[in-house]
Amino acid sequence: MKNLHSHLLQAKKKPALYEVYTNEILWNDLHISKKMLQFHLSDSSEAASRNKEFIEKSILFIINELSLKKGDSIIDFGCGPGLYTHSLAKLGFIVTGVDFSLNSLEYAKVMAKKDKLDIDYIEQNYLSFSPKTTYDVALLIYCDYCALNISQRKKLLSNINKSLKVGGDFFFDVFSIVAFKQREDITRFGRNLMDNFWSKNAYFCFANSFTYEKEKVHLDKYEIIEKNRQFIVYNWLKYFTVDEVKKELIDAGFLVKGVFSDVAGKPFDLNEPVITFHCQKN
Ligand SMILES: C[S@@+](CC[C@H](N)C(=O)[O-])C[C@H]1O[C@@H](n2cnc3c(N)ncnc32)[C@H](O)[C@@H]1O
Repeated sequence: MKNLHSHLLQAKKKPALYEVYTNEILWNDLHISKKMLQFHLSDSSEAASRNKEFIEKSILFIINELSLKKGDSIIDFGCGPGLYTHSLAKLGFIVTGVDFSLNSLEYAKVMAKKDKLDIDYIEQNYLSFSPKTTYDVALLIYCDYCALNISQRKKLLSNINKSLKVGGDFFFDVFSIVAFKQREDITRFGRNLMDNFWSKNAYFCFANSFTYEKEKVHLDKYEIIEKNRQFIVYNWLKYFTVDEVKKELIDAGFLVKGVFSDVAGKPFDLNEPVITFHCQKN
């Protein structure tokens, strides 16, 4: 019982900010990445991608806002199963997708082959990506930027900057402070919690969340305990003001051209949970 008590105390102890980064588990563990792919492809879940109708609307907005023309080259960072890359290739753009989720990329490649689309899918961590060529446009969609700490964000912006031609466009979204205020700390414990999301084996899961008020960061921490295996997943999410992101963009060599409240062009409103940026490489 003493062990259990100290275990529970440990599970509830607030980790130091960005103490551990486990993003790869979520997208690359054999079982979990399959569950994430199901979320990507499901129109009733927004856990990994937005729904099809919204994605099509946002693609039309991106083409219009960035004045894209057939034959322009686009690189999509964190392309997942290719929901954006596939449609963009169909519309006549030259498309590259970068992602470290093998499972998602396999799906994307099968779909491209099925529709005879020539899409360059690169399996790589975008934090260590060095481009072999430069592109007209870079995308980073569904608030991936928020999962990173400050040095990772700098690295990613630098890699994106290097991937673009001078004057090339970068389009991405982040969660706003409004979304941060909607979060609350929770504690949950259960058998096969989240409908067997974490493993195909029987497990117990402690789920605890923590708020870092000053830094506007929220952590969802999942401790998964199987008979013969134990692991912890840390999902960090940083929430931003417009000015914070603008400063990071300017420091990384970008000019901000437009700010919206979603990637489908909703006019900017301070009360919305998402902020979207259209910027250009200086
Ligand atoms: C929230 S999903 C969004 C996918 C896609 N942009 C969409 O909106 O449908 C994030 C994607 O980024 C990928 N990802 C996260 N961190 C990454 C990293 N460091 N390097 C490469 N890919 C990463 C994940 O594998 C996942 O496919």
